[in-house]
Amino acid sequence: MDDRSFAAAQDFLLSAKTFWSTTMYQALRDKHAAAKKTASGDAGEPVAAIAHALEDTTQYQFYSWLERHLQRMKYVGRYGLVPYHHERRDELLATFDQSIDADNAVQIDGSLTLPAYYTGVDIHQHPGGVWSDDVAGMIYERGARTTTPLVGVAEKDVHERFTDLALGERTPAKILDMGCGFGKSTQPFVRRLPDSSVDAVDLSAPCLRLAAYGTRESQASNVRFRQMNACNTDYDDGTFDLVTSTMVLHELPPKTIEELLGEAFRVLSPGGRMVHLDFYCLPDAFRRFVHYGHARRNNEPYMQPLAELDLSALVASKGFVDVEIKPFQESDHIDLNANDAWRFPWTVIAATKPSEAAQ
Ligand SMILES: C[S@@+](CC[C@H](N)C(=O)[O-])C[C@H]1O[C@@H](n2cnc3c(N)ncnc32)[C@H](O)[C@@H]1O
Repeated sequence: MDDRSFAAAQDFLLSAKTFWSTTMYQALRDKHAAAKKTASGDAGEPVAAIAHALEDTTQYQFYSWLERHLQRMKYVGRYGLVPYHHERRDELLATFDQSIDADNAVQIDGSLTLPAYYTGVDIHQHPGGVWSDDVAGMIYERGARTTTPLVGVAEKDVHERFTDLALGERTPAKILDMGCGFGKSTQPFVRRLPDSSVDAVDLSAPCLRLAAYGTRESQASNVRFRQMNACNTDYDDGTFDLVTSTMVLHELPPKTIEELLGEAFRVLSPGGRMVHLDFYCLPDAFRRFVHYGHARRNNEPYMQPLAELDLSALVASKGFVDVEIKPFQESDHIDLNANDAWRFPWTVIAATKPSEAAQ
């Protein structure tokens, strides 16, 4: 397939996703409002009651079909990301591997056992997940550009906004990005704090290679990408002043989230701050219903369990103080109170490791 046809098909899918996330979302929202009016009494709108009222409607069927299959078409089929990258595999890997090997910019651990929760799911419908194929990092990177409709290209993106928030007025000397993927969450810290050192860990070798390649292109020397389980790292206690993650927690089962929080606590220095960005605060039962459906249709089996966790209590149980869990505005164009389009329930989860005196 030629580049132009591939790009046109992916652009088409993004436009279709925008139709789904606006027009079809609004139709579903209105159908729910109408069903609510005719329902006898308000039973507190549990998610199951909303499902019962909506699941057989044309609006819900069409909405769900688009949600599942536009994402599927992004990856597979004639113009999918997977065949596109497989056709160019040798060419793509040739440039990339040589540069990475040349400057040892990434540490791959060939003996690392990937956890079963990770290998058992084709996460967000990515065939083989983000780890099993040499070009999986590139597929993930290209796919991420069309994941979230509505966000304008010229605007400060979600990772830049998150970095603003995570840093605030602070200049942490040592930062750990847990589950860095292809480095998009790491890069803003690396760029903004050239005198700090940033470590970024992930389970996926192809993602880490791509992350290291991108950083090498920008000639940054204050970052290391390392293949490691974020729940069980080799760092000494108290190594970091800031520990972050973006879009990682919802990909972990509850027990693993607990382990990751415990590890964040261990590797933070006293007084250090942990800041995560994920999908958690759901303002009402309708959006909870929509979010749980998204989890099922997009192959995200741990999204609902995260949304049902008492995260505040879990974070506090690890020893953290100043626990803050609040909605995150991912774009200037988003009104957090409006319900006019599908959006992820972006949430910041932050907490502090008590200083030595308080421990
Ligand atoms: C949705 S991606 C987010 C990547 C990146 N933080 C970003 O915002 O672009 C989730 C990442 O978490 C990684 N991951 C999942 N479980 C992990 C674990 N236990 N340790 C380290 N990384 C993990 C996956 O390989 C994947 O790259």
